[in-house]
Amino acid sequence: MTTATKSLERRRRQQQEVAMQGSEVKPGRSQTGSVQKHLNVGLVVGGLLMLLTYLAVSLPPHVVIREVGQIMDHNIKAPHETENGKVVCSTAGRSYDLSDTCQADGDVRTNGTALSVTLVPASGSELERREWMITPYSRKLDGIRKVTVTQLQDGAAAVPCTVTHDVPAVLFAIDGYAGNYWHDYSDILVPLFIASRRYHGEVMFLITNIRLHPQWPVKYRAFLRGLSKYDAVDMDGDAQVRCFPRVTVGLRLYKELSIVPELVPGGRLSMADFTRFLRETYALPRAAPVSLARDQEPPHKKPRLLLIHRGHYRRILNEPEIARAAVAAGFEAVVAELRGDAPDAEQARVVNSFDVVLGIHGAGLTNALFLPPGGVLIQVVPYGKMGLIASTAFGWPAADMGLGYFDYDVSVEETSLLEALGPEHPAIKDPDSVHRSGWPKVFELYLAKQDVRINATRFAPTLARALDHLRRSH
Ligand SMILES: *[C@@H]1O[C@H](CO)[C@@H](O)[C@H](O)[C@H]1NC(C)=O
Ligand SMILES: *[C@@H]1O[C@H](CO)[C@@H](O)[C@H](O)[C@H]1NC(C)=O
Repeated sequence: MTTATKSLERRRRQQQEVAMQGSEVKPGRSQTGSVQKHLNVGLVVGGLLMLLTYLAVSLPPHVVIREVGQIMDHNIKAPHETENGKVVCSTAGRSYDLSDTCQADGDVRTNGTALSVTLVPASGSELERREWMITPYSRKLDGIRKVTVTQLQDGAAAVPCTVTHDVPAVLFAIDGYAGNYWHDYSDILVPLFIASRRYHGEVMFLITNIRLHPQWPVKYRAFLRGLSKYDAVDMDGDAQVRCFPRVTVGLRLYKELSIVPELVPGGRLSMADFTRFLRETYALPRAAPVSLARDQEPPHKKPRLLLIHRGHYRRILNEPEIARAAVAAGFEAVVAELRGDAPDAEQARVVNSFDVVLGIHGAGLTNALFLPPGGVLIQVVPYGKMGLIASTAFGWPAADMGLGYFDYDVSVEETSLLEALGPEHPAIKDPDSVHRSGWPKVFELYLAKQDVRINATRFAPTLARALDHLRRSH
C-alpha cells in the first residue's frame, strides 16, 4: 500500500472506532503493529522520567522547584534576550538546566554540511571571537549532533552567502525522544511554539536529523505550517550558505508539556494560547465542552468520554466494564486506540469531538491537548507511588491547558502485579524500596509489567467528579 492509501485506511478505521458509541462500546481491536515498536516507545518515556528523578536529587541549593517539572533558577532571565550584532547563549552546563540555546542577531550564516551557525560582525567592527557547541534538542542528551555556533572576530574569514533570507530562522533537531507522542509535544512542538510564535509565520525552520525520522515532518506538517509560512530546510543535506538576520539555535524546555509564560521570549504566551493555536491550525471546531445546563432547550446532549486503549502493556484489562460505568454515570463512551502514525491534525479532530479523555498513564494522554478548554482529563495512575510522575507528565500540564484534571490511584487489589508477584514481594509491600533502587526497576515493575483491572465501584466517584466539573464549567 502507498502511504496515502494506508493513511486513508487508518482514517477509515479510526472513524469506525469512533462510531462505536454509547452502549455499543467495544474494546479496541487487537493491534497489528509490532510489540517491539511499542516497547521502545515505553522505554523512551522511561528516559524522561529517569531524567526527572535524577534532577530531583542533583539540584543545586539556589534552584527553586515551583512544581517538579518547572525548574527555575532565579538567576536566569527570559532566554534569547537579544543583542544586535552579537551571539547570546544559554548553555546547560549545569545538570538542572536542561536546554542549550543560542541566539545570533545581525549577519548570521549557516552551513548545513558543517552544521555551523556563524555571526559575522558588521564591516569595520570587531567582536571577541567565541564558539559554542549547542545540542539543538531541548534535553541535553548524548548522541545528538551538536551545532557549532561561532561569533567571528571580523568579517575577513566569512564565507559569502549563497542564499539570503529576510526572515529569522530557528534551528532544531528531530532527535532524542522524537517519535514518542508525549515527547514530540513536550520536547519539540511546545518549545518550538515558544521560540517562533512571535514571528507570526515569518520564520524559517532549519531541521536536523530528518533522515532518521522522515515521517515526523509529514505527521506534523500542519503544525509546522501554522508557525512558519516557509518550507523547512533539511539542514543535514543543505549545501547552501544561508544568510539570516537572526538565528535561534536549539529549543528551550522549562516545564514538561507546558509553558512558563514569564519566560517566553518576545511576550507572554500560555498553554491556553498553545491549545488555541492547535484549534486554529488543525481546524478543531470545539472551543468549549458540551453545555450541561439543566434548563436548556432542547434537552442537552450527553458529554462524550474517550477511553484510550493501550494494546500491549500497561493495559486496562476491563475496558468494556469501565466504559459501561461511564455510560451509567451519564456519558456517551467510546473506546479507541489512537495510533500515532496518522497525520496529527486528523487525530486531533477525532479527540476534539470529546469532552473527557480517560486512560492509564502513557503517551496517549497527550491527546488531552485537543480537548476543548473546560473539558476533563482522567489519568489512571498505576500502582507503585507513581503520583508525582503522573502529575508532572499530565496533571499540571492539563491544569495549564484549562482542563479539569482528576487522577485515579490504582490500589493493590487492582494491579496485575499482586497476582504475578505475590503479596510479599517488595514491589507490592514497599514501593518506596523500588523507587530507592533506581529508575530502571521502577519502570520495569510499575510501567512495563503492570496491567490494571479497575474496580468500577471504586472508580464511580471519579466519573461523577468529571461530570460535575463539566456541569460547572458553564
Ligand atoms: C560548509 O562546511 C563544509 C565543512 O566544513 C565545507 O567543506 C564547505 O565548503 C562549506 N560550504 C560552503 C558553501 O562554504
Ligand atoms: C470495589 O470497591 C468497593 C468500594 O471501594 C469495595 O467495597 C469493594 O470491595 C471492591 N471490590 C473488589 C472486588 O475489590
